[in-house]
Amino acid sequence: MRVTQPRISSKIKSFVRDIPPLSQVWHRINELNDTRINMLEMLRIIESDDILPERLMALVNSGYYGLPERMDSLKDALSMMGHETVRNVVLNVTLFDSLFSERSRSPLNPARFKEHSLGCGIACRALADQIGMFPEKAEMLFIAGMLHDLGKIVLLNIDEVNYGKALMESRSVGVSLYFAEMAHFGCSHTHAGTLLARHWKLHSFFENIIQYHHSTSDLKRNLMKNLVVIANNISKRAFPGASGNDIVEEAHLGLMRQVGIDPAMADKLIEELPGRVRALPPL
Ligand SMILES: [Fe+2]
Repeated sequence: MRVTQPRISSKIKSFVRDIPPLSQVWHRINELNDTRINMLEMLRIIESDDILPERLMALVNSGYYGLPERMDSLKDALSMMGHETVRNVVLNVTLFDSLFSERSRSPLNPARFKEHSLGCGIACRALADQIGMFPEKAEMLFIAGMLHDLGKIVLLNIDEVNYGKALMESRSVGVSLYFAEMAHFGCSHTHAGTLLARHWKLHSFFENIIQYHHSTSDLKRNLMKNLVVIANNISKRAFPGASGNDIVEEAHLGLMRQVGIDPAMADKLIEELPGRVRALPPL
């Protein structure tokens, strides 16, 4: 049966209602005041969760932050990472753990999909660094890169068999996965991801990236989105097929020039990305 858009919406809503309470931790972290952050309150919230303290300590000691010595105190780790980073890590853990669960026979390989998502996030941050973007914005871009294809997991959860058919059709016919999704679901992962982002009340910045990362209509006006589009392409080249999409467009040379990215730097990033992704602890 062809799934129509209203049916998709209702399935996403019922799917979101089943999300584990971990997301409540993110909402509590998210509600903390940015300017007068209460570190003890943040510590208390993180410690109330079974998974997060270990994940955050693994991240802080992973080499990602280049610390000279191992850090043992969660309180110190939170202070060093800051509210924005902690909030983003919690968001990642919440989303990926909730959405992927135990899907050993999923048609979209979870480990490879995470490679693509992490690769895009890391590429986003590297591009942001290259053009001298503020660290807070680079952090937002890292998360945006991680989340841009969120809708694929949504569609997968709604109808795994049908999503498998879309993936197979995309590969066998050589059509973009985006269009195969449209044929099988009546909407693409950008629409499904946007509905979920709204339902979860994610920041409108993330919602826009999820919604428009395949749209080129207003690229000139949106630097942050341009960087995600370029990073997505870089990650697809570094991890062929990992996003579920075997069709990789040409490198966005014109767009790179427009936003000040050196194509040689992008090529180097493609080479380095697999190693940089493997160096990260599980998020
Ligand atoms: Fe996408």
